[in-house]
Amino acid sequence: MSAELRVERLRKVFATGAPAVDDVSFAVGAGEIVALLGPSGCGKTTTLRCVAGLEHPSAGVVRIGGATVSAPSEGVLVPPRARNVGMVFQSYAVWPHMTVEQNVAYPLRQRRTSRAEIERRTAETLKLVGLSEFARRPVVSLSGGQMQRVALARSLVYEPALLLLDEPLSNLDANLRLRLRDDLRRIIKRTGVTALYVTHDQAEAAVLGDRVGVMRDGRLLQIGPPAEIYNRPAELFVAQFTGASNLLAGRVLDRDGEFGTVEAPSGHRLTASPCSAENSPRSSSAAARAMRSTARSTSCCRRRCAGPIRTRRTRWQNEEILVMSP
Ligand SMILES: Nc1ncnc2c1ncn2[C@@H]1O[C@H](COP(=O)(O)OP(=O)(O)OP(=O)(O)O)[C@@H](O)[C@H]1O
Ligand SMILES: [Mg+2]
Repeated sequence: MSAELRVERLRKVFATGAPAVDDVSFAVGAGEIVALLGPSGCGKTTTLRCVAGLEHPSAGVVRIGGATVSAPSEGVLVPPRARNVGMVFQSYAVWPHMTVEQNVAYPLRQRRTSRAEIERRTAETLKLVGLSEFARRPVVSLSGGQMQRVALARSLVYEPALLLLDEPLSNLDANLRLRLRDDLRRIIKRTGVTALYVTHDQAEAAVLGDRVGVMRDGRLLQIGPPAEIYNRPAELFVAQFTGASNLLAGRVLDRDGEFGTVEAPSGHRLTASPCSAENSPRSSSAAARAMRSTARSTSCCRRRCAGPIRTRRTRWQNEEILVMSP
């Protein structure tokens, strides 16, 4: 049975450096896929490992299916094998001395499942990932993409409550990556398992995730459906990470209701919808300052502008532009 995952105020501080995960809260509904997206070192894997029980969180609570599996303040730390979680890693992580079906059957053998049940479930799962005709082949004779399907089948065969995937497509070539990306979502959805998927690839996150969570420096900046993340990024970093080419610096000259006139450095004047009513800039000069700042750097923008930067994409002469206000 798939289960809801709840992560509340999760924090992980290693012996050295800044917190790897800093006050992260989110939930993944039963049967939902949430993709955690962010640059290298932002804390995606550490979050996943805390959920799996492979890392001991410094603070916060992790609940799977309503049961608390990790709560340092209460001394709760359920070991990984008792969490009923499946994991797929970037490396293929298959047993090289076994055949495909032996690999997939392995977790069921560990759980002392009956032979008939092992055969039934192994065949069923191999069919699900499209590897039925490879069942008897040594796993090392398969391609990278096929091996990753074996790893996926091995994580699904015992029907975990939650599936955790850490950049499972990163080692594949570009074409295969695209194909397996679509297959992965279909396979996961067919099983109905709840899934947390980690990636630094925005397209992968948007295709695979029902919702996408964007992380930076250990913090979860925004979580929502892919279209919302793209169209209404909560802050500048989210906008840049999900489509930097759409950023345009400019100066707000005038505002008229929902629309404003923006002057680009080239001198072109654009009519743009700067932000939603609830995020309206306090003044056009403040918006203009924010926009000028973004042309230089995010940190510059952060320092100069009080409060988060609100952004919205719009179109002008068939080109997408992004206008923002503090
Ligand atoms: N065992 C560890 N000891 C000390 N620091 C660690 C350890 N594991 C991770 N970190 C640090 O925690 C931060 C987050 O690392 P993490 O592996 O979660 O990032 P990530 O988002 O998965 O990055 P990538 O996309 O490169 O896999 C990094 O600064 C990393 O150096
Ligand atoms: Mg990682």
